[in-house]
Formats: sequence, structure tokens, C-alpha cells
Amino acid sequence: MFHILAADPISTEGLSVLQHDPNVTVTDETGLSPDELENRIDQFDALLVRSQTKVTRSVIEKASRLKIIGRAGVGVDNIDLDAATEHGVLVVNAPNGNTNSAAEHTMAMTMALSRQIPQAHLSLQNGKWDRKKYVGFELKGKKLGIIGLGRIGTEVAYRAKGQRMDVIAYDPFFTEEKADQMGIEYGTLEDVFQEADYITVHTPLLKDTHHMINADAFSKMKDGVHIMNCARGGIIEEDALYDAIVSGKVAGAAIDVLEDEPFQDHKLLQLPQVIATPHLGASTVEAQENVAIDVCRDIINHLTGEMAQNP
Ligand code: NAD
Ligand code: MLT
Repeated sequence: MFHILAADPISTEGLSVLQHDPNVTVTDETGLSPDELENRIDQFDALLVRSQTKVTRSVIEKASRLKIIGRAGVGVDNIDLDAATEHGVLVVNAPNGNTNSAAEHTMAMTMALSRQIPQAHLSLQNGKWDRKKYVGFELKGKKLGIIGLGRIGTEVAYRAKGQRMDVIAYDPFFTEEKADQMGIEYGTLEDVFQEADYITVHTPLLKDTHHMINADAFSKMKDGVHIMNCARGGIIEEDALYDAIVSGKVAGAAIDVLEDEPFQDHKLLQLPQVIATPHLGASTVEAQENVAIDVCRDIINHLTGEMAQNP
């Protein structure tokens, strides 16, 4: 028998992939403290998480029978990959299942930011009818800068073109030829900073991308630029963003992710120019089913000696 711990909320469709396997038992227990996870992890062959659970080196060191960690989503920055490799634990993710949802959320945030929809809604709820205060901007004809043109960045580019925006993108693995095929402009990071009216980041959180949007980057941007982050906290340096908004350099920011989550007390949330959601990019029925099914299939594959699809 293989024992699997689901430590974060995982869609029932995914869990049923596991539960239908007669060789598997599933413990569905979310909200364990780091100490509780460390104390219990040696009972399990597989660990299933989203982004909330931090799979640290000390968790992995205590996981004497752990063979695989499944991440129901894209980012594996909550898992100590070096420790997993050293201990022979395979890490799999589900890179494709939430692409559309994350791209749609980015566009929803971009439009809500541009038209101040959350602020106007709040004002109405407070009994005000303020049509003068909430004058927005059209997206049509504005230039969207995309940093990171992978799965989600690419889908955002196509959606932005649907809004009649011009798109410039930077990604070290992107080419001018591909940009031509997509009908967008290929630029350097500096080009994106200097030319874009709206900037959205879609890279993983890596050493290279940590704080890549910092005070120096903001200083190169257009006055009144709008910033969106539906990728990972830590790509944008938060104090620098705060200062750039207060100084008027940045007109507004849409934030789905910040460095320390949950982030309900963050100072950025006190600024009226900031709209935010609590890491909801992948929170759709469809995406959660997709990623859960993909990652649970891979866990079964690996435990039964088959090849995992997304190591
Ligand atoms: P992906 O791997 O398909 O794309 C990432 C792209 O970033 C790649 O094309 C890569 O070449 C590029 N990149 C890497 N380093 C770069 C750099 N220094 N400068 C510019 N580009 C760089 O990943 P994806 O599926 O598109 O996901 C993108 C991000 O969105 C990830 O951080 C992921 O964790 C996050 N995400 C967030 C949510 C959410 O709920 N908010 C949902 C899904 C994904
Ligand atoms: C991801 O990287 O897939 C996202 O953070 C979505 C999530 O797991 O909530």
C-alpha cells in the first residue's frame, strides 16, 4: 500500500484518481503547521501540495519513505528542490492545467485596474455616487509589456491583442521570428521598461527574477505606468513599488501575489491605487480540476513504476 498525504486543498476530481486506486490510501489533511507536517511526514510515500505548504529541507529530511512530491500547479518555489534531489524524491508539477485561468485573471485584473472597478464598487457600497472620481483609461492603443513569454505570458499576449493593445515582450528564450508569427514586438528588458504603458510579469521566481522589478527598473519606466503581477511575489520589489506609486511614477498596480502570503495586512493594500486578490490566478473550477488530475496521475505513475509526465 502507498500512503499519500494531501496537505493543501486539492480538487475532489483529482483526489478521486488516487482514491480509485486499490493500492493507495489518501489522507486529506490541510492546514498542518510546519511542526505537524515534520512530525507526520515519515508515514507517507507521496505528498500532494499547492502553494501554501512549504516543503522545506527539514520536512524532506524527516520524510524517510517519501518518493514523490506532487505540486498541483506550476510554481515549485515552495519546495526545496535541492533537498528533494539529494534525498531521491521526485518533484512533479502540473504546468498546463491553469494557464488559461491565470491568463484570464491577468486580463481581468488589468481591466479592473484601468477602470478602477474595485474602488468604484467599494465607494458605491459606502453610499457614494462618484462618477467624476473614477475616470479610467482605455486599453486600446496602449502598449502592454510582457516579461516572461511562456505559457501564461503567451496567452496574455493573445488576449491583449484582442483588446487591441500593442504588445512588446521580453523573454531570454523568445525570438524575433516567434514575435513576428504572434504579431507582437520583441524587445529587451530595457525596451519593455521604457516603452510599455502597462507591464505584466509572467516569469517563475528564480535567483535571476527575484526583485527584477526594482527601484532602478521603475526609474526607467514611463510616468503613469500600470503594473500587474499575477505570477509570483518576489519578482517585484515591494518597497520600490510602494515608493513608485506614492511618488506618482506608477499610476496603479494589480497584485495577485506578494512575497509573504497570506498578505492581508500589507502596506501596499493601504494605497488606493492598488487592487489585489488573494492569489486567485488559478482559482477556477476548471483549473483546479485540471491540475489536480494531472498531478495525481503522475503520482500514481511514479509509485507504480511508470514514467511521470511532468518531473
Ligand atoms: P512558463 O515556464 O511557461 O513561463 C515562464 C517564462 O519565463 C519562460 O518562457 C521563461 O523563459 C521566462 N523567463 C525565465 N527567466 C526570465 C527572465 N529573467 N526574464 C524574462 N523571462 C524569463 O511558466 P507559466 O506557466 O507561464 O507561469 C508563469 C508564472 O506564473 C510562474 O511564476 C507561475 O508560478 C505563476 N503562476 C501563478 C498563478 C497564480 O495563481 N497567480 C497561476 C499559475 C502560474
Ligand atoms: C501556480 O503556480 O500554479 C499558482 O500559484 C497556482 C496555485 O497553486 O494556486
